[in-house]
This record gives sequence, structure tokens and C-alpha cells, in this order.
Amino acid sequence: MNKIDTIIKKLDLSPHPEGGYFKETYRSVGEIKADSLSSDYKGSRSYSTCIYFLLTSNNFSAFHRIKQDEIWHFYDGSPLLLHIITPEGLYIKHRIGWDIINGEIPQFVVPGGCWFGAEVVADEAYSLVGCTVSPGFSFDDFELKPRNELIELFPHLEKEISHLTHD
Ligand code: GUN
Repeated sequence: MNKIDTIIKKLDLSPHPEGGYFKETYRSVGEIKADSLSSDYKGSRSYSTCIYFLLTSNNFSAFHRIKQDEIWHFYDGSPLLLHIITPEGLYIKHRIGWDIINGEIPQFVVPGGCWFGAEVVADEAYSLVGCTVSPGFSFDDFELKPRNELIELFPHLEKEISHLTHD
């Protein structure tokens, strides 16, 4: 078994619909009731959740969006390139990694409501990160748009969107 397969097995990761592999490592017992959340959450949510997320060079995390801020933490492997499209259509990239001297950052917060995707910087490599959200994650808050719909929203970013979406 190669190193990536071993990590996937040891950390008990499963395929994620956005691409890559994940495992939820924390879900708070406590819940925030719907009437204490903004009205765009339909139902109650855990206080907080956390996952391992592993991406490989031959795949990418396709542009998706959630309502809450998502905190990315770098753990192991190649740096990760995070691509972000703000609701206003601004396009931003950040390298998540340990080479702080050369501009990488080990932790980054993607603001809720932004579209974001990710790719591994090096070839034949992997990035292992953690993603923490509060309120806790629910697939009810998760949006993954097809390429053409996202390009319709942000026509000036056709090249960038095509790079990190599936047909
Ligand atoms: N749980 C399942 N998928 C996800 C995700 O994409 N982000 C976070 N934070 N938790 C998840």
C-alpha cells in the first residue's frame, strides 16, 4: 500500500462529494436551536464540527459553498492552494502550508457565503488539513454548483471556475 492509501486507511477517511477524502473527528453534543440561528439555516445545528480532509494531486476540491466560516488548519504533506470567490465576485488565492517565510499560512478562515475550492500544489502528493466550522456542518447547508451555473454567476472568472469544477 502506498503512503496515501495508508493514511486514508489509518484515519478512516471516506470520499467527499466535493473531491478528496474526509472523516468527521468532532461533533459537539450541544446543539443550537433553529430560532437562535439566522433564518437561512433550516433546523438546529451542532455548536461545532471538525473534519480531517485529505486531497491528492490527481483530484481537486470543486468550488462549493457553506453558510458558516470554515477554518482550515494545515497538518501534513504538500501545501494546499485555496481558491476563493467572494459573493461580490472577487477572486482570492491562499497557500495553506508551513513555509511561512515564503508566504504560506498554516491556518486560514474562509468566510461563510464564499465559493471555495482547493488543489494540492505539488505533483504526486497529498495535503492533509483540518476544517472546523461553527455552527456545525450539515449537508443541508452545502452547495456544489455545476460549472455552467457558477460561470453564469461570475462570467469574468470562467477560466478559474473551469479549473476547479467538473462538467
Ligand atoms: N463535514 C462533512 N463535510 C464537511 C466539510 O466540507 N466541511 C466541514 N467543516 N465539515 C464537513
